[in-house]
Formats: sequence, structure tokens, C-alpha cells
Amino acid sequence: MRIISGVQSSGKLHLGNYFGAIKQFIELQHQGEAFYFIANLHALTTVREGARLRDLTHAVALDFLALGLDPEKATLFRQSDVPEVTELFWILSALTPLGLLERAHSFKDKTARGITADLGLFSYPVLMAADILIYGADVVPVGRDQVQHLEMTRDIATKFNLAFVPGWDAKDPAGLKNGLPGILKLPRAMVQDASAAVPGIDGQKMSKSYGNAIDLFDADAPTKKRIMSIKSDSTALEAPKDRDATPIHALLKLFASPADMNEIDRSFDEGGRGWGHYKQQLAELFFATFSEARKRRIELAADGAFVERVLANGAHRARAAAAPIMMQVREATGIVAATR
Ligand code: ADP
Ligand code: TRP
Repeated sequence: MRIISGVQSSGKLHLGNYFGAIKQFIELQHQGEAFYFIANLHALTTVREGARLRDLTHAVALDFLALGLDPEKATLFRQSDVPEVTELFWILSALTPLGLLERAHSFKDKTARGITADLGLFSYPVLMAADILIYGADVVPVGRDQVQHLEMTRDIATKFNLAFVPGWDAKDPAGLKNGLPGILKLPRAMVQDASAAVPGIDGQKMSKSYGNAIDLFDADAPTKKRIMSIKSDSTALEAPKDRDATPIHALLKLFASPADMNEIDRSFDEGGRGWGHYKQQLAELFFATFSEARKRRIELAADGAFVERVLANGAHRARAAAAPIMMQVREATGIVAATR
């Protein structure tokens, strides 16, 4: 089983990234051949400062390693270190209908929040399709917000195979019956239901670009302050609390053991505890959960060359994995001479 996923280096990693995606990445590295990359090309749609993008990319790599990604087991690399991905992006662009991209929620959400609508942002899902298809991924662990992009990836792969693999049957995409698999494999999304959409401190989806994130590796004091500033309402301390009125219940649920969660649920129903109490509890759970990773990150950060070595090694492995599929793509599309 080949597993592929990426996280943009458009900001620091936050709780949504961890529970929605990275926690699964770490677990999956033991279950298949995992490739994880830092999507710095995607991040260019929002970061327009070279030094900042370079630093963020390095920081995200450190975060992954601190959180338990084992570079011996999984391949960790920079998206841009596999330049073939932009080549495949162009080839896929040539067969992607505009209507498909116009339906993308992420594009609509981002432009609605004031991010400039440029071609990069609009074609973002095609680059993401290239990221996945170039390695022949079977599964792609992501948060729920990315599921539509996975459906688009399957659509684009289907269009490619229909166009360039004579006899390919969309009803038998892996060629199990007729022995004719496509050149591009149709991947499936893997979503962890319980943490598919982590809310931010304002109750909206937590996102680097929405200013509502709780970062994993900020210093202790600002982290505590951030948690204490989570949106709450004016329900009196002794009154029962609405679980959906604030993001606090959903955030506690990510950390608390089932037994603790039962107790929390009961106190929400009965009242008697203020929001400040729950935020304090959340802060304690946060620090207990991430203390080891936070310590390890400081140690790893002391050896900058180590991270770069991991990324260079990862780039090498990722390019080797992409090469055979790109060869077939180039040949089938007629952009190179046939070798057979
Ligand atoms: P952001 O929205 O903060 O820029 P990314 O788009 O880089 O984050 O997402 C990286 C991964 O983290 C994706 O798999 C995405 O689905 C997941 N993710 C991001 N935010 C959340 C969230 N609030 N809840 C669950 N998963 C999330
Ligand atoms: N678009 C993804 C996000 O914002 C990041 C990403 C880029 C990705 N390429 C990918 C995720 C390929 C999975 C597979 O979260």
C-alpha cells in the first residue's frame, strides 16, 4: 500500500493539522510505504516572501520529525524537490475542465476570505492531483476539507486514462478483470471521522490562513493565552452548557480519554463549571499531550543539517518513485519519442 499526503508550509502547524492529518500520517508509516511532503509550491499561493517560505518549510519538516515521523520508515521531502510534479501538473491541466475547478469549495472559501483569486489558487487542485498521481498512491490521509480535492483527483486521473490508455475501462480502473490498468491509479481519501474538522478559537474551521489556530509549537505563555482566548458565551457558571455553542467541547474531545469525556459531558449537562475551568483543563491536556514532541523539537532544531539531510534523502527516494509513472505519461501523451 502506498500512502501519500502533504501539508502546506504556509504557516506553523496547528491542532487541526495534527488531529486531522499528521496523527494519521505517523500511525500509517508502519502500515505501508508512506511518502509525506511539505507542499511549498502550494504555499506560494499565499506566501510571497522567499526567506519566509524557506524558513516555514524547514520548520514544518522539524515539526513532522518532532511529532514522530521516522525518516527511516517514511519518506519526507519537499514538494518542489520533485520538479516532475509541475510537468505532470501541466499535462493534467490540459484535460481538466474549468467547471470542475469552479466547483471547488476551497477556492470559493479562500476568495470569500479575501485571498486574491489568481491562477495558482484556482488550479491548486490540479497540482494536488499531480502530487498524488505521480507516485501511484493508493490512499491519501487528509482532513475532511480535502475530500473534494481527492474526488477531483480521481476525476482527472479518469480523464487521463480514458484519453491515453486505449481500452481502459473506467468501471474496472485497476484492470482486475480485463488486465488493463490505467497509467494513473485512482486513489482514495482516508479521513479520521472523529477529528475530520477541528474548530479554531473562533469556532470556524481551524486554519493557518484564518488567524484562528492553536499552534503546536508556540512558546508556553502565548499558547496558554491563546487557549484562554477561545470563544465562549455568557452562560452563567452554574448553568448547563451547550456543547455546540463554543469550540471548547469539540477541542476537549480531541484530547480527553473516554472516561474523562464522560465526566466532562456530565458537567456540561449539569452546569456548575465556568468556561474558564474548561479552558484550563484544555491547556493542561494540550501540554501533557505535546510536551514530549515540544521537547524533541528543541533538540532537533539544534542540528539544522539533520533536517536538510532528511529532506535531501527523501527527495531522492521520491524522485525515484515518480520516475516510472512519468515515463509512461510522457510516452502515452506523445511528448517524447516512444521507447517501444
Ligand atoms: P491549513 O488549512 O491550516 O492551511 P492545510 O491546508 O495545509 O492546513 O492542511 C494540512 C492537512 O491538515 C490537511 O490534510 C487538512 O485536511 C488537515 N487540516 C487542516 N485544518 C484542519 C482542521 N481544522 N481540522 C481537521 N483537519 C485539518
Ligand atoms: N491541499 C492540501 C492541504 O491544503 C495539501 C496538499 C497538497 C496535499 N498536495 C497534497 C494533501 C497531496 C494530500 C495529497 O491540506
